[in-house]
Amino acid sequence: MNLAVLSRGPQLYSTRSLVQAGRRRGHRVEVIDHLYCNLLIEGGQPQVFHGDRLLWGVDAVIPRIGASVTVPGAAIIRQFEMMGIFSVTSSEALLRSRDKLQCLQWLSQVGVGLPRTAYSNFTETPRELIDLAGGVPLVIKLLKSTHGLGVILAEKESVAESVIEAFARIRERVIVQEYIAEAGGADLRVLVIDGQVVAAMKRQAQPGEFRSNLHRGATATPVELEPEEAATAIRAAEALGLKVAGVDLLQSDRGPLVLEVNPSPGLEGITSTTGIDIADHIIRYIEKEVI
Ligand SMILES: Nc1ncnc2c1ncn2[C@@H]1O[C@H](COP(=O)(O)OP(=O)(O)O)[C@@H](O)[C@H]1O
Ligand SMILES: [Mg+2]
Repeated sequence: MNLAVLSRGPQLYSTRSLVQAGRRRGHRVEVIDHLYCNLLIEGGQPQVFHGDRLLWGVDAVIPRIGASVTVPGAAIIRQFEMMGIFSVTSSEALLRSRDKLQCLQWLSQVGVGLPRTAYSNFTETPRELIDLAGGVPLVIKLLKSTHGLGVILAEKESVAESVIEAFARIRERVIVQEYIAEAGGADLRVLVIDGQVVAAMKRQAQPGEFRSNLHRGATATPVELEPEEAATAIRAAEALGLKVAGVDLLQSDRGPLVLEVNPSPGLEGITSTTGIDIADHIIRYIEKEVI
């Protein structure tokens, strides 16, 4: 097969491991920078150019679109979809899961556990939003937060109000969420591929920190999931229409709660922690779908 990894960084671990895994299994793999793609939209014959080179003969694309270019990245994926080319991550699923509010809205209809979450377009009255989320302590999140940057724990109501007001002032949209204290600064990252759990790890935040992102210095260990945790992760990936997903779960007193579903999960941490070759699983999934 001819595979194209849509990525801005050929040197990045996830991109490299997908390229290597594809080549090991006998495929041609090239890295395409989605920000250097030009699209020709014409009746009956949509085309993608990489610079001035027409891309042809591509059998499948593997999007690795960064959060800062979700919308332009989705436009390129959509063009491939219009050409009848298989994409590991659909443009719709990418857009759905990247926005924290939209992601939780999609999840709310399938019955998985979620932290109580409130949102408002009218943040002039932060008190209403705080009450709707169940009062302090609260976690306030930028809709576009990644790597834990833009996730704030507000323990006092006056702080929660000021933070919501400050974000409103700079026109950044937020969600306000119940703080799950019993998670103890840990969460589970579950890699779901084609409706099955392929790998899982527990991430523990540094002392004094509640955010368990590896980018925030958290440590990770492999973990055996409870059946309810695995079922929740699988249902969450399915709700968003993602065939490859990194589902983040908090372990709460009322069972697993889905925090977010990552459409382009980093492969380095989970691969080194669990020893499972995630990239190889992704390539095998494509083979099953395309051949
Ligand atoms: N409601 C919450 N209760 C407890 N911890 C939380 C909550 N929301 C987020 N966290 C912690 O903060 C981390 C980052 O939050 P997350 O929503 O995943 O944002 P990001 O997309 O920036 O990673 C999570 O991995 C988790 O450890
Ligand atoms: Mg996260």
